[in-house]
Amino acid sequence: MIWLELQRNPNSIKVVTVEKVIDETPTVRTLVFSDESLAAVLPGQFAMVWIPGTNELPMSVMITLEKGKAAFTVRKHGLSSTALYSVKAGDQIGVRGPYGNSFTIKQGKLLLVGGGTGLVPLVRLVTFLTKTDDVTIIIGAKTKEEVFFEDLANKLLKYNRHRVLVVTEDGTQGELGLVTDAMERLLGENRFDAVYTCGPEKMMHRVVQLAFEKKIYVEASVERMMKCGMGLCGSCCFGEVLACKDGTVFDGQYLVTNNEFGHTHRSKSGILENY
Ligand SMILES: Cc1cc2nc3c(=O)[nH]c(=O)nc-3n(C[C@H](O)[C@H](O)[C@H](O)COP(=O)(O)OP(=O)(O)OC[C@H]3O[C@@H](n4cnc5c(N)ncnc54)[C@H](O)[C@@H]3O)c2cc1C
Ligand code: FES
Repeated sequence: MIWLELQRNPNSIKVVTVEKVIDETPTVRTLVFSDESLAAVLPGQFAMVWIPGTNELPMSVMITLEKGKAAFTVRKHGLSSTALYSVKAGDQIGVRGPYGNSFTIKQGKLLLVGGGTGLVPLVRLVTFLTKTDDVTIIIGAKTKEEVFFEDLANKLLKYNRHRVLVVTEDGTQGELGLVTDAMERLLGENRFDAVYTCGPEKMMHRVVQLAFEKKIYVEASVERMMKCGMGLCGSCCFGEVLACKDGTVFDGQYLVTNNEFGHTHRSKSGILENY
């Protein structure tokens, strides 16, 4: 009974075995494992992932096309993310969660703007949309080798009116420039009912500004330094709120009043740093 209770408690660590590792780009991998509760999370929710002997990191929960399976899509960056990226099929990791709120599902003409692994919660959001929604996704990457989820997005949206637009900073695939350049152009040609974004904060700041100026409902999923993931330690404070508990998803109405958004964040030791 105690064991069953622990299994149900999102705050207890569950040890799972990585069953499959998919190379998405030379620096990004998706790790697939079985977990019914993480397979069913809402779009925007995250888990804390324990990499034995290294650290625990917050990760958005990625979809898989297999029932009962969940996944993380990780970009190798520093010590901890590189350790997670280096996990092999058969290795074990610890997971707890899900944590955080989720995107509000709107209907109509929707614009999703993602950069890098910020696409993870947006891809999950796509699976919650209805077939009548007209969906545009802008996928941003530095260069062609770092573009991922384009085919998956097209597959998930095959019954919708949709468009998947790739934008690379060096123009090696899709449009040349920044996702916000493409967004600005699309906003001049279309009337969207809602905009959702996740990715680098400077990018999200501009996305929120652009949507807000056009009076379009907008939500962004914000990243902050997370340790407990459940509202206890305060390391993820974002102005007056906690990113892990009050977010990670915030709407534009709130974000334009938060002076930290797009400007400052706290380091591992809690010091306020500029972006
Ligand atoms: C809610 C949420 C969801 C995330 N989802 C993903 C995802 O799907 N895929 C992915 O690759 N990354 C994701 N990240 C980022 C990830 O947690 C790490 O921040 C990143 O992988 C770098 O970690 P590192 O320790 O290797 O790098 P380091 O070199 O140690 O740190 C580099 C930077 O990463 C950030 N960082 C490091 N540790 C943490 C932490 N505990 N909490 C928050 N930020 C941290 C800080 O900005 C730090 O300056 C997410 C972060 C958050 C908050
Ligand atoms: S990570 Fe501890 S309060 Fe948010």
